[in-house]
Amino acid sequence: MVSSAPSDLGRRRRLLYGRRKGPKLSAHQKELRRSLLPQLTLALESGRDPRTYFGAGVEDVWLEVGFGGGEHLIEQARANPQVGLIGADPYEAGVAKLLSKIDGGSASNIRIHEGDARDIIEALPDACLGRVFILFPDPWPKARHHKRRFVQMEMLDALARAMKPGAELRIASDDAGYVDWTLERALAHPGFLWTASCAADWRIRPEGWPQTRYEAKALHGPPAYLCFMRRGNM
Ligand SMILES: C[S@@+](CC[C@H](N)C(=O)[O-])C[C@H]1O[C@@H](n2cnc3c(N)ncnc32)[C@H](O)[C@@H]1O
Repeated sequence: MVSSAPSDLGRRRRLLYGRRKGPKLSAHQKELRRSLLPQLTLALESGRDPRTYFGAGVEDVWLEVGFGGGEHLIEQARANPQVGLIGADPYEAGVAKLLSKIDGGSASNIRIHEGDARDIIEALPDACLGRVFILFPDPWPKARHHKRRFVQMEMLDALARAMKPGAELRIASDDAGYVDWTLERALAHPGFLWTASCAADWRIRPEGWPQTRYEAKALHGPPAYLCFMRRGNM
């Protein structure tokens, strides 16, 4: 096992997210950042089996990219105690919201990376993730900002490498442009199969898919729920 930061971390990368800082944190949130966040922060090591970031009994590891306020992450962690949930989001106020939700409850199967999800994806070994969630990613609607969208062909390559054959990739958006963009890329990617067989499969939120804060607002239009399966061979 190589104990070092992933090689890409030092490289200059295009910034994908909008902001790290938001409204001022309350005294309680500041205290949670001081006391709870260090316990849950992922000690990222390149090539390390992600199950070893958790305690005994964790059989599979799922990743949520951009967990926002953490409502989906925490519900998945509670509903699936045998799964380790890694959440990545650089937004300080979102991390503070997640910490407040965890405060006092058990969080033995949650690990947080307060930063870019790419740090984690790049550091993971091959075929180790059982599920990946990208829920209501920033839509970056202007054409000149499309390069900042999280879903890109190279990102699908990176996810396909880190996901197990048969693993599920869930992507949701209420932005029709982003839905089309995602389908164009995922359908062209040899590593993924769109599992929908009828319109209801992507128009109606499937069972076991807790609602997120952005979804509840659905500012841009009706949400689409896209499920892809990592194919066995590429
Ligand atoms: C529109 S919000 C959606 C939040 C949440 N998923 C929801 O549905 O309520 C997008 C989130 O993705 C985060 N984000 C953007 N780029 C990211 C990246 N490269 N890695 C991790 N999180 C990212 C943002 O900070 C923001 O919290």
